[in-house]
Amino acid sequence: MKIIAREEKVRTGEKILLFSPTIDDAQQLADHANKVFAETKFLSVGPEDGQKTAEHEIKWIESVDKAERSLIITGKINNQIVAIGNLSAKSNQRFQHRCGLGISIQKDFWGKGIGTIIMKLLLDYAKKLDFEIAELSVVKDNVAAYYLYKKLGFEEYGIFKKALRYQDGTYADLIYMIKEL
Ligand SMILES: CC(C)(COP(=O)(O)OP(=O)(O)OC[C@H]1O[C@@H](n2cnc3c(N)ncnc32)[C@H](O)[C@@H]1OP(=O)(O)O)[C@@H](O)C(=O)NCCC(=O)NCCS
Repeated sequence: MKIIAREEKVRTGEKILLFSPTIDDAQQLADHANKVFAETKFLSVGPEDGQKTAEHEIKWIESVDKAERSLIITGKINNQIVAIGNLSAKSNQRFQHRCGLGISIQKDFWGKGIGTIIMKLLLDYAKKLDFEIAELSVVKDNVAAYYLYKKLGFEEYGIFKKALRYQDGTYADLIYMIKEL
């Protein structure tokens, strides 16, 4: 599904346009993904999984557009995509009350309140779409994300030790969090 586009002000006063991407945004979405995969170790996907292309993003956009209870929020500042959030329904009937949330912001734009704006909007949509529980996971060392989720009412329900293994042989633990809507 598509969201209704809106504009918000970030902490530094710049305007961010929040909207659902179309296939015209596919190349910028791929560029965003490749940038954030390289910039942070806190995502479950990394450059070692291969480069994202516009074709991958077109498939993603088209499948989300068709889904009644899944959506992508793209954040653009000065006409450049700098952030992406997504909400996904689960396929099993017995999981229809639960949705998964995800977010990625380019490093130059961290700390401006964009994560808070997008996560709040994702939670608003989750409620409107009649989900009862929002869920996500966060790498234990990802202090900013953990703080953001706690601030918005997420609670820890488990830790998966050594859930990620990096190419240098080190590991990271994942904290699982949920929020009742
Ligand atoms: C995690 C992420 C989404 C946060 O987005 P952001 O726009 O920087 O977040 P915000 O500016 O809204 O800040 C969120 C809160 O965290 C706090 N925070 C940020 N960095 C922090 C740090 N290192 N230690 C403690 N608190 C921190 C901020 O002060 C803010 O709290 P406040 O509103 O009370 O001041 C962003 O850093 C990101 O995309 N990182 C890379 C990808 C990623 O980790 N995605 C999440 C995977 S679970």
